[in-house]
Amino acid sequence: MFKRLQQKWGVSTRQFWILFIIFGLTGTTTAMLTRYITSWLGMDETSFWLWKLLLRVGMLLFGYQVILLTYGFLLGQWAFFWKYEKKLLVRLGIWRLESGVVAPKPQTPNPKLQIPNPKVPIAIFASGAGSNAQKIIEHLKGHVSMQVALIVCNKPDAGVLSIAKTHGIPTLLIEKERFFRGDAYLAELQNYQIRFIVLAGFLWKVPDALIKAYPDKIINIHPALLPKYGGKGMYGMRVHEAVIAAGENESGITIHYVNEHFDEGAPIFQARCPVEPGDTPEQLAQKIHALEHRYFPETVEKTVEKLNR
Ligand code: GRF
Repeated sequence: MFKRLQQKWGVSTRQFWILFIIFGLTGTTTAMLTRYITSWLGMDETSFWLWKLLLRVGMLLFGYQVILLTYGFLLGQWAFFWKYEKKLLVRLGIWRLESGVVAPKPQTPNPKLQIPNPKVPIAIFASGAGSNAQKIIEHLKGHVSMQVALIVCNKPDAGVLSIAKTHGIPTLLIEKERFFRGDAYLAELQNYQIRFIVLAGFLWKVPDALIKAYPDKIINIHPALLPKYGGKGMYGMRVHEAVIAAGENESGITIHYVNEHFDEGAPIFQARCPVEPGDTPEQLAQKIHALEHRYFPETVEKTVEKLNR
């Protein structure tokens, strides 16, 4: 039971127990304070029951929440409890989530009860400018058998979020703690009935829980010819700098399945471009981007099409 609760909250074991203690302290303090206020107001068994009930409900609705936030703040858990309170306020209709960046709470908790989507819903995980995400979205617009249903991002200021907004695609902003030590946001992905995941400039390693839930259904694009110039720390301009420093006369892109090791999943597609003498990392990056934009969308399409065969 504790394990499930911990997963639901998306916290580490240590943080889980701190939260547990805070809830305990809050409950005890609220009860003691209610008793103190009752006697301070001179209420006893003979007092009108409605006043006593109103006091208790008021303490539960407001006092409890304030005390919870206070303990949360004192024990370094403000972020968790503030989010908890905001959720409560959203449910009560007092607080509205910002549009564009939404953390959707699964509305239909049991995905088995949902009507299956005739188009394969794809999630794109991206944390950068999102030019690849944009190309894929445009390429698949109006497709008969697949659609980009969700953009998952870990940076609140990433360009890909505005691209999603322009195209009316829901976004999910994720946090490290829950992604790596919680349920990896599987509940949300299931809520959107996601069947395929495309990493397009997503720098975090994909947790095992997600790889297990989507076997051979997660693909990534890498801006070099794997197996060379891949692995931990090899991303963005670092890749192009390494290629040039090694004196390579060609580079390219690799689209591959994602497994539990960085950039080591089975390759699906590669395309090459020359590295001219005197090319700067920035110039090489431009050539690579051009290859990505040209081949990534159709590779996504072909790979997803195989799912239905
Ligand atoms: C691409 O070069 C991709 O290969 C790498 O990250 C970059 C993302 O670029 N994994 P963008 O955000 O799609 O423009």
